[in-house]
Parts: sequence; structure tokens; C-alpha cells
Amino acid sequence: MEKKDINWGELGFGYMPTDYRFVSNWKNGAWDDGALITDPNIVISECAGVLQYAQTVFEGLKAYTTEDGRIVCFRPDLNADRLEASCKRLQMPVFPKERFIEAVREVVKSNAAFVPPFGSGATLYLRPYMFGSDAVIGVKPATEYQFRILCTPVGPYFKGGVKPLTVRISDLDRAAPRGTGNIKAGLNYAMSLYNIVDAHNCGFDENIYLDPGTRTKIEETGGANIIFVTKDNKVVTPKSDSILPSITRRSLLQVAADYCGLEVEEREIELAEIGEFAECGLCGTAAVISPVGKIVDHGKEICLPAGMTEMGPVTKKLYDTLTGIQMGRIPAPEGWIVEIM
Ligand code: PLP
Ligand code: COI
Repeated sequence: MEKKDINWGELGFGYMPTDYRFVSNWKNGAWDDGALITDPNIVISECAGVLQYAQTVFEGLKAYTTEDGRIVCFRPDLNADRLEASCKRLQMPVFPKERFIEAVREVVKSNAAFVPPFGSGATLYLRPYMFGSDAVIGVKPATEYQFRILCTPVGPYFKGGVKPLTVRISDLDRAAPRGTGNIKAGLNYAMSLYNIVDAHNCGFDENIYLDPGTRTKIEETGGANIIFVTKDNKVVTPKSDSILPSITRRSLLQVAADYCGLEVEEREIELAEIGEFAECGLCGTAAVISPVGKIVDHGKEICLPAGMTEMGPVTKKLYDTLTGIQMGRIPAPEGWIVEIM
């Protein structure tokens, strides 16, 4: 199969239409068979639930080319599970897990020419999503839904690749106590847009959100979970009901313990203690692990000892091991890698 003529190494995290996307419609209480289609555009009611009341949820996962030329995906079953949780919270129908994984396969296979080659630094990002597609005017769930998976080749999420980031402690909250912070719904991102634009205008790469109940504990950023490394090499990550259960973070904790022999801990992390950590990183499908060099809390600069030029040693070890598993260089735990072709 001949690859598309794309300058893979120059790709940022952006959208480029590919040849095929998967579409399935829910009507009269059931999903149709679904199909791969070529049209990237969608026509829906002007009064669709997604347009009026933001009834939409999504996922993110990647396809990778391994060193020996296979194309694989990383833990799509967990994306299907999380999509189910998101759908239930927004009163949307569940797209069955086996069908989700089959649709992922079809989308990757049919767009194989867009899967970046091994070693290019790029990957194929898949975006499964669902939205209420028929008209609602009173506040209630739609009765018809569309599930789609689009894909697009991407490079690093943060400009500058793996250069350490500067992030700020946010004054705004991303989630409410007992709200929707733990699901992947478009509404959580809509309300973060003002804040991310403001952060960029002020010279920061991302916002660190605090717990919305007390604003004393670290939660996550707008698009990634957070991991810290203590001075004695323990990997620590915030425990909270209002953060997204990141598949990357859950995988990293297992990698840290089982592959790197590190102690790991999921617990509440006080804002007041972040000056004591040795390393910090943002983790997610898009972010992979992006090192944080500096956290700014209202003018107070907390400089991580790992510095502003490269990843700290533990972050690097975690990064190399996780990406080694994803790219097939390191044997994966049972069920983590789904071979597509
Ligand atoms: N937190 C938020 C708010 C996100 O948008 C993402 C991205 O998906 C993550 C965390 C990381 O989750 P995952 O590792 O499953 O991609
Ligand atoms: C992902 O990592 O898949 C996400 O959805 C994060 C998003 C901010 C791009």
C-alpha cells in the first residue's frame, strides 16, 4: 500500500480529511448496520440536540505503525467503555463495544495510506463521537443519534514537541462537584475555550484546574491528566471524581510499577505541595507524556528541578516504555495492543 504524500515530520495536531469515516445512525431505538463513507460533511436538523443543548460525547485514540510494519491500536476497549459512561451520563444510546472496536478497525484499515510510518514522529488520531441529531426544542434528549469515527494524521499536541511546558494554575474551574468532569463530553471543552485562549495569550501552554469543591487540590489540565514524580522516584497522580479517567494515565501507572519497578500512588495532591516534586508531566492520548518545566501560581513560579530543556529521567523512562509498547518495540501486557493489519 502506497502512503499519501504527506510531510509526516512537519505535522502538528490538526485536522486533515482522510478517505473514509465510519457512520452509524440510531433511530426507532436501534443502531443501523453502519458503513464507511467518503463525504466528510454532515447535514442535520437546524434544531438538532447537539446544536441546541450540546448533546455530544467523544473519544480519542491512536493507530501506530510498528517497527516491523504492522498497524496497531492501543486499548480501544477502554475507549469503548468510557464512551459508554459518557453516553449514559448524557442520556444517549450506547454503541456496543464489539461494534466500536470493529469500526475502529475498518476506519484504520480503509485509511491505511494515512497512517504515518514508523519513526516519523506522527500517528493516526482517531476521533469516535456521537451526537443527538434530530430536533429538540424543549430541554430533553434527542430521539435520533449519529455515531462516527473520523481519523486524521497528527504530530505533537504541544508546539515544540517534547520541550518542557509552562502551565498556570487556573482561576476558573473545568468541572463542578458531582458534575460531568469525569466524562468526555463536548460541554467540558466548550467551557474551557475562553481559558485556554487566555492562557496562550498570557504565555502559558495549559491551565491546571483545581478541585472545584475546595480549590486546594490539583485535578488535571484542559486536555490531559497530570503525573508527578517525587524526589525519591515515586509516581503520584491525583485521585478525584471530577477528572477524566485517562487511559494513558492508567496505563502509565501500570507501566511504572510493572516495567520500571517504581512505586505508584493515586491520592489527593494539595496545591501547597507541588513545590516538593522532582518532575511533572501531562498525559493523554494527544499529549502522550509532555513534561512540565514550570508551574505558575499567580506570579509564584514553581520550577521543577527537571528543568526547562529536557524531560526528567523518570518521565523519560515512562515515555520510552509506553511508546515502546505502543509501537511494538516492547512486549505489551495482555490485551493492550489490537493488531489491525
Ligand atoms: N483529561 C482530559 C480533559 C482529556 O481531554 C484527555 C484526553 O483524552 C485526557 C485527560 C487523557 O485521556 P486519555 O489518556 O484517555 O487520552
Ligand atoms: C485526547 O488526548 O484524545 C484528547 O481528546 C485531548 C484533546 C484535548 C485533544
